[in-house]
Amino acid sequence: MKAVRYSSFGGPDVLEVVDVDTPRPGPGEITVRVAGAGVNQLDTKIRSGTMPTGVPAFPLGTGFDASGTVLEVGDGVGDVTVGDLVFGTGRDTMAEVAVLTQWAGIPTGVDPVEAGGWGVATETAGRLLTELGLTAGTILVSGASGGVGTAIVQFAVARGLTVIGTASARNQEYLTRLGAVPVVYGSGLVDRVSEAAPNGVDGALDISGAGVIPELVTLVGDASRVISISDFSAPSLGARVSTGAARTTDPRDGFAEAAALPGFSLPVERRFALDEIAEAHRHAEGGHTVGKLVVTP
Ligand SMILES: NC(=O)c1ccc[n+]([C@@H]2O[C@H](COP(=O)([O-])OP(=O)(O)OC[C@H]3O[C@@H](n4cnc5c(N)ncnc54)[C@H](OP(=O)(O)O)[C@@H]3O)[C@@H](O)[C@H]2O)c1
Repeated sequence: MKAVRYSSFGGPDVLEVVDVDTPRPGPGEITVRVAGAGVNQLDTKIRSGTMPTGVPAFPLGTGFDASGTVLEVGDGVGDVTVGDLVFGTGRDTMAEVAVLTQWAGIPTGVDPVEAGGWGVATETAGRLLTELGLTAGTILVSGASGGVGTAIVQFAVARGLTVIGTASARNQEYLTRLGAVPVVYGSGLVDRVSEAAPNGVDGALDISGAGVIPELVTLVGDASRVISISDFSAPSLGARVSTGAARTTDPRDGFAEAAALPGFSLPVERRFALDEIAEAHRHAEGGHTVGKLVVTP
């Protein structure tokens, strides 16, 4: 089968499509014939070598998100059978066949290719909202128009929160459609958010890591109610950092929340063929994706 591999850290052009053996699921895992595989900035950070991952066992595969038809079921898996349509997270998903370690069924009516971008974003959105623990009031999402932000806004609105989202000027209308009050990021952020949130901000999530932790702490007035997923300097200001590795929630909680939310969507800004993987990474690295980028092997 065809899969993406790379044999040294570097720019997007280190990525190659090669023939490899079809993977088999281990205990508690499944394999899927991939319909869609979401591109995440994490993929590009690992590929470039800027995200330490221990001693690399080259050649490496890439990709954590996928959707598709169940091909094989590992020992101990009882909730899906061959032929089911699922989405979730796993390893080396930029391939014709990928292993998933966590999954959920694709809701009726959802495009299976789009669902290929749901795994990481919905897991992260569910985890962040649970860690923040707001049950009412106003939440500020910094970087709300990308993959993770798009999921958070929809979850938070459905949970009854008022959501203020930041994005560039071109994505203000997009945030309004998601149900957020849009605010343009950049200089003057505190004043613009204060105007948009006359009752104050009860919690804030830094998604894009644009160096705004001081502003978010000022707006919330309590650093413990500010969480970042991309700015590892946040704890120096009393704010928290959240990572999937800490396993504070079950990833499937986020999948279930998305699947149960009528109309939930992660719009696909652009689809790429497997042999366009370098272009997909370049786009993701630009940091201005609207919704998701999905590879269709
Ligand atoms: N720690 C974790 O658990 C975890 C999990 C998932 C992702 N992440 C990280 O979280 C980050 C975001 O992921 P993603 O998938 O949402 O990325 P993405 O899809 O690439 O979206 C990035 C978004 O950031 C916005 N943005 C760019 N510059 C900004 C600025 N100065 N201020 C505010 N927003 C800005 C962009 O909006 P415009 O297009 O309007 O500029 C874009 O919508 C990545 O660094 C990723 O690696 C961490």
